[in-house]
Amino acid sequence: MPATIEEATEVDLDLGAAFVRLIPQLSSSSPAPDVDQLAEIIATPGTTVFMARADDGTLIGSLTLVTFRIPTGLRAIIEDVVVDEAARGQGAAKALTKAALAKAESLGIKTVDLTSRPSREAANQLYQSLGFELRETNVYRFSFGA
Ligand SMILES: CC(C)(COP(=O)(O)OP(=O)(O)OC[C@H]1O[C@@H](n2cnc3c(N)ncnc32)[C@H](O)[C@@H]1OP(=O)(O)O)[C@@H](O)C(=O)NCCC(=O)NCCS
Repeated sequence: MPATIEEATEVDLDLGAAFVRLIPQLSSSSPAPDVDQLAEIIATPGTTVFMARADDGTLIGSLTLVTFRIPTGLRAIIEDVVVDEAARGQGAAKALTKAALAKAESLGIKTVDLTSRPSREAANQLYQSLGFELRETNVYRFSFGA
C-alpha cells in the first residue's frame, strides 16, 4: 500500500521523532532540526514540508518544497528528500515528489529544480523517472567558515 502524503502543518513529538530518524539517513553532517526549528520551517511562507505516512501511522519519509518569486518568474526547489531505509522501494519518495510537483503546478510555478549527487543512484533514478531533466549548468556553493 503506497504511503499517504500530507503537508506538515503543526509540530508534535511524532514529527520531531520522525526527523530524528530520517535526517541521519540523508546527511552525516547536519543534525535533525529541533521542535523550534521545525516550527520555524513550517511557518515560513513558501516552504512546505511533505511527510509520507505508512498504513500503521508511522512517518516514513519527508520532502521539502521551497517556492519563491524572482525577476524571471515563480520558481521552486525540492530539498531534503529522504525515506526511512526500512520503507524504501514502496513508492513513498515517488508519492512525495508527485505531491510536491502537484502543489508547485497549482501555484503557477514555472520550474522546479533540485540537485542530487551522482552517487545517489536511487534518487537520480527517481527524479529522471518523474520527468526531471539533467541541466547543463555548474552548481556552485560558497561555504562560510570553510
Ligand atoms: C532516494 C530515496 C528517497 C528513494 O526513496 P524510495 O521511497 O525508496 O523510492 P520509491 O520507492 O518511491 O522509488 C521511486 C523510484 O526511485 C527509483 N529507485 C528507488 N530505489 C531505487 C534503487 N535502490 N535503485 C535504483 N532506483 C531506485 C526507481 O526509479 C523508482 O521507481 P520504480 O519503482 O518505478 O522503478 C531513498 O532511497 C533515500 O532516502 N535515500 C537516502 C537519501 C537520499 O539519497 N535522498 C535523496 C537526496 S537528493
